[in-house]
Amino acid sequence: MAGNEMIILHVLGARPNFVKAAPVIDALAARGAAQAVVHTGQHYDEKMSEIFFRELGLPEPDVNLGVGSGSHAAQTAALMTGLEAEFLRRAPELVVVYGDVNSTIAAALVAAKLHLPVAHVEAGLRSFDMTMPEEVNRRLTDQLSALCLVTSPEAIGHLAAEGIDPARAHLVGNPMIDTLLTNLGHFDTAAVRAAHHLPERYVLATLHRPANVDDPATAAALVTHLHGIADLADLVIPLHPRGRANLLAAGLDTHQGVHVLDPLGYIDFLAAVRGAAAVVTDSGGLQEETTILAVPCLTVRPNTERPITITHGTNRLVTLDDLVPETRKALETDRHGTKRTPPLWDGHAGERIAEVIQTWRRESTR
Ligand code: UD1
Repeated sequence: MAGNEMIILHVLGARPNFVKAAPVIDALAARGAAQAVVHTGQHYDEKMSEIFFRELGLPEPDVNLGVGSGSHAAQTAALMTGLEAEFLRRAPELVVVYGDVNSTIAAALVAAKLHLPVAHVEAGLRSFDMTMPEEVNRRLTDQLSALCLVTSPEAIGHLAAEGIDPARAHLVGNPMIDTLLTNLGHFDTAAVRAAHHLPERYVLATLHRPANVDDPATAAALVTHLHGIADLADLVIPLHPRGRANLLAAGLDTHQGVHVLDPLGYIDFLAAVRGAAAVVTDSGGLQEETTILAVPCLTVRPNTERPITITHGTNRLVTLDDLVPETRKALETDRHGTKRTPPLWDGHAGERIAEVIQTWRRESTR
């Protein structure tokens, strides 16, 4: 992708990064920016990685570091070692990082130590729950970023409260929603139902947070409640590799109303979400996507870093004990629709990010 000129280097590692980066890379390419993509290899299965590159038209990564899985320390250390060599070799003028995964903080930390400026896409979101690795990653990445690119207005206040100069924060909208709106015409629910033998009416579940699936006893309790949902309506669950073993060991697929699928690609997954009567999740991005698709979303977490999906969208936080009754309510009340679209979730966040980066480049080379 890049010639000899100074490059903007995007660091991508995990599934949600790919969805957020596609419109940013496109918008920068349209402005003639020289770019490179480093894939850390944090996610590596075909269904967790390549399929997203293909479907979203992402450029082939210039390099894949093949870091893979490990404990937080082992994975983050491997990410940092691999990224340091790449940053030294490529000497980018800006490193762009996305979201809150281990690849994000590893890249920000390495860049900061090499005095390379960082732009953080999806800055300022806070769950205020430091037991979540993502919260640690977000807070530290923002501290290290020259450009904090914000998807939701309350994030500006969070950054200010942490002492981050307001001049670094830019409300740009949500690039994940750019990708959703760009691909909306491809979300064919009938096709995905036919391909996976799914019924007309179903609840779609995705669950992969460590707090929900890592401990076998918690996973077993979750499965009991998921079976309770399957008593009400068919339950479709594309299984993230994390938690697969624990959920299946707890008998997830022993209920005849449960349809366990492998992870789906972007287009099939969003098609399945669009056609769902309700969604049960612990994902961050899906809270946002259901907000725009107007599908009721029940988030099995005690908190969310995306409160705008509650105030402006279809999201509700539920405890495990409330999960079945709340799902029943969601099924009975039918779709409740989006109340208001969050500001700037309009399909143009990538362009705004490119604009902020271009302005920053002009100012920093003056
Ligand atoms: C990571 C992010 C999480 C994000 C999620 C999206 C961190 C700390 N967490 O969680 O915020 O919501 O991605 O999917 O960065 N595995 C595979 N194949 C793969 C990738 C992972 O089998 O391609 C399995 C491995 O057993 C691995 C486990 O999943 O140990 C967890 O992967 P990891 O990247 O550490 O975290 P995620 O749970 O995917």
